[in-house]
Amino acid sequence: MNTLSINAKLPQQKAIEYQAHIGTGLLKQIPNLLKTLTPVARYVIITDSTIKNILGVRLVKELKKASLEADIVTFSAGEKNKNEATHSKLTHAMLQKKCGRDTMILALGGGVVGDMAGYVAATYMRGIPYVHIPTSFLAMVDSSIGGKVGVDTKFGKNLIGAFWHPEAVIIDIDCLKKLPQEQLINGLMESIKIFLTSDAKTLEVVENNWKKILKKDSTLLQKIVARSIELKIGVVTRDEHEANERMVVNWGHTIGHTIEHLSNFSFGHGYCVGYGILVESKIAELMGVLSTEDFEKVCETMQGFGITKIALKAILKKFSTQAIIKQTLIDKKARSGKVKYVLLEKIGAVKITKEMFGHEVDKKIVTKALTYFTK
Ligand SMILES: NC(=O)c1ccc[n+]([C@@H]2O[C@H](COP(=O)([O-])OP(=O)(O)OC[C@H]3O[C@@H](n4cnc5c(N)ncnc54)[C@H](O)[C@@H]3O)[C@@H](O)[C@H]2O)c1
Ligand SMILES: [Zn+2]
Repeated sequence: MNTLSINAKLPQQKAIEYQAHIGTGLLKQIPNLLKTLTPVARYVIITDSTIKNILGVRLVKELKKASLEADIVTFSAGEKNKNEATHSKLTHAMLQKKCGRDTMILALGGGVVGDMAGYVAATYMRGIPYVHIPTSFLAMVDSSIGGKVGVDTKFGKNLIGAFWHPEAVIIDIDCLKKLPQEQLINGLMESIKIFLTSDAKTLEVVENNWKKILKKDSTLLQKIVARSIELKIGVVTRDEHEANERMVVNWGHTIGHTIEHLSNFSFGHGYCVGYGILVESKIAELMGVLSTEDFEKVCETMQGFGITKIALKAILKKFSTQAIIKQTLIDKKARSGKVKYVLLEKIGAVKITKEMFGHEVDKKIVTKALTYFTK
C-alpha cells in the first residue's frame, strides 16, 4: 500500500454578506438592483409553472427592457417536483442553452422554487451566483434566508443539498396579491413562531391586526416580513450550521414535522408548525416553564388564523400517542434516540440552560400534552 499525504489548500472562504431588499413595486426595479451585484453575462429565471404566468413572463420583459440577457426555465409546481429529476432537468436545460459560469440564476417563486433553483446554482459548474425573488409568504420570511438549498428524496425531505447563499434577496410585497389566503397563513406561522420565541412586541402587532393581515394590508405585511428576516438573520449568522441556537427556528417543528409525516403531507408545512406550536407550548406549560396565562395567549393568537384546538383534536385523534412519539424520534433534533425540545419560557423568549437551547423532555409529558388536546 502506498499512502501519500496530500496537503491541499482550499480556496479561502470569504465572509458572506448580502442584502435583502423589501418593498412594494420592486419587480420593476430588479434590473437596477441586479446591476449593483456581481456583473454577469446573462440571467436565467428558474420558476414553477404557476408563477411563470403570474410573474415570470413580466420579469423577463423587465430584464429585456433594461437590455439584460434573460431566459426562463420552468418546472411543474409542487413539492413532489422538488427532486433530483427536476434538478437534472433544469441543469440540462441550462447546459443546452450554453450557460457558462458567468450566468446568474434568479429563483422566482415559493420555497420549492427557492430550494430547487438554489441547489441548481450550488451545483451548476461547481457553483454559480443566484438571487432569491421569493413570491410566497413562507419563502419571503423563511426559506429565502439562511442559505439552505436542496431537494427531497424517497427517503425523506431535504436530504440532498448544500449551504449556498444568494447574492441578494429581493422581496416585492405586491407579489402576494395573487397568493391564496391559505398560503399566506402557511407562511405567517413561521413569522408567528419567530415572534413568539424572540419578539413579544411584534407579536402584539400581529395579535392586534390579524384581520388586516389576512386582508393583505401591504404596510403590515412588509413590517412582518422585514422583522421576521431580521430575526432569522440574527439566529442564522450566530449559528449557521444548526449546532445550537438555530434550533429556535425549529420550535414547533418537532411535533409539526411529526403531524406533517403522519398525515402524509396533506396539510401545509406552516399549518403543521402552527399545530406543533400549540402542543409544544403545552409541553412547556406542563413542565412549569411557561405560565398558563401565556399558554392561553399562544392559543388565542393562533385561533385568529384558524389554528384551533378543535382542528388539532381532529388531526391528533387519527394517530396513537405512541405513533406520534415514535415519529418525533426521527426528527433531526433527536440525538442518540433522545428528542430535544425548544421550550417557550414566556411570550418572546425561550428557555436557555447553560447556553443550550434544546432540552430533553420526558415522554410522559409529551403524552400528557397530546392527551390534553385529544380529550
Ligand atoms: N431552505 C429553507 O431554509 C427552507 C425553510 C422553510 C421551508 N423550505 C421549503 O419551502 C418549501 C415550501 O415553500 P412554499 O410554502 O412557498 O411552497 P411552494 O413553493 O410550493 O408554493 C406554494 C404554492 O403557491 C404558489 N405561489 C407561490 N407564490 C405565489 C404567488 N405570489 N401568487 C400565487 N401563487 C403563488 C406556488 O406556485 C405553489 O403552488 C418546502 O419545500 C420546504 O421544504 C425551505
Ligand atoms: Zn418551518
